[in-house]
Amino acid sequence: MSNLSLLSLFFLFPLSKFLTEASEDYNGFIYAGCSEPHYDPGSSYESSVNSILTSLSNVASLTTYTNVTSPASTTFVCGLFQCRSDLPTSFCESCVHDAISRLSTLCPSATGAAVQLRSCFLKYGNDSFLGKQDTSVLYKNCGAPSPNGGYNSGDFPGMRDAALGALVAAAAPPAGGAYRIGGAGYVQAMSQCVGDLSAKECSDCVGVSVAQLKTECSYASTGEVYLGKCYARFWSTNTASYTNTIFPSGHPPSNGSQSSKTLIIIIGVMIAIAIIIVALSFFRRTAGAGK
Ligand SMILES: *[C@@H]1O[C@H](CO)[C@@H](O)[C@H](O)[C@H]1NC(C)=O
Ligand SMILES: *[C@@H]1O[C@H](CO)[C@@H](O)[C@H](O)[C@H]1NC(C)=O
Repeated sequence: MSNLSLLSLFFLFPLSKFLTEASEDYNGFIYAGCSEPHYDPGSSYESSVNSILTSLSNVASLTTYTNVTSPASTTFVCGLFQCRSDLPTSFCESCVHDAISRLSTLCPSATGAAVQLRSCFLKYGNDSFLGKQDTSVLYKNCGAPSPNGGYNSGDFPGMRDAALGALVAAAAPPAGGAYRIGGAGYVQAMSQCVGDLSAKECSDCVGVSVAQLKTECSYASTGEVYLGKCYARFWSTNTASYTNTIFPSGHPPSNGSQSSKTLIIIIGVMIAIAIIIVALSFFRRTAGAGK
């Protein structure tokens, strides 16, 4: 019996590690920005904001991008959300609902605001930002240089540049808003544009954020740069080797990846086999001892 418990401990340890890695926080907070001006409680501006947010909230289960504008007879406010366009809309619904509830505490009564969570972006305001390019840097975050798979190991800069280059070079998607993914060696990259950009504007925006990543996060093993209408990220996987491919609507980049799911299944099967073998030898021995 001690054989069995030792074996299962040995196998369960890596299993639990992969299981925790497989759960990404899709609603994780990235940044929020609020306008200086505030509207008065009970104003027509407030009712426009409320109806915009309600409309956005109502369609989040149906689409990964939408824009809404208040009716002509009311105070002008417009809004949009963009979810990661490779994920099912159930993720979008949850993320957009979270974003709206965060806005009410982070930016109470702001005439304009934007919030970026891990898998969705939501913005409203009365400057007509709809359909306009915006490459201003809103947030960036560079990871620490990593001894494993960081700048100093192998050709990390080359892989990073190739992975990021694939994002910009990605064939123009049929509509804006497309999620793009690129990889080279053990570096993976992804980008997402807001759906009101044309394919060309999206590529331009991704190009600006990629250039930012290369200069600002050049020594980091991970990096993310969020511009007004797009963002790009790169990270080191440092496990499997990827070819330099582009999946315009590929899999979720990090942890929900196919390879870790496959690993979990393989480990599960190994545990089952190990348990059967140990159980069989245990029964054999007890049967042999009984004779
Ligand atoms: C937006 O709202 C603010 C605050 O009410 C106001 O001062 C500003 O003029 C508005 N801008 C536009 C473009 O309507
Ligand atoms: C806003 O949404 C409407 C449909 O509701 C769409 O026809 C229009 O192209 C969108 N505008 C932008 C800038 O995305």
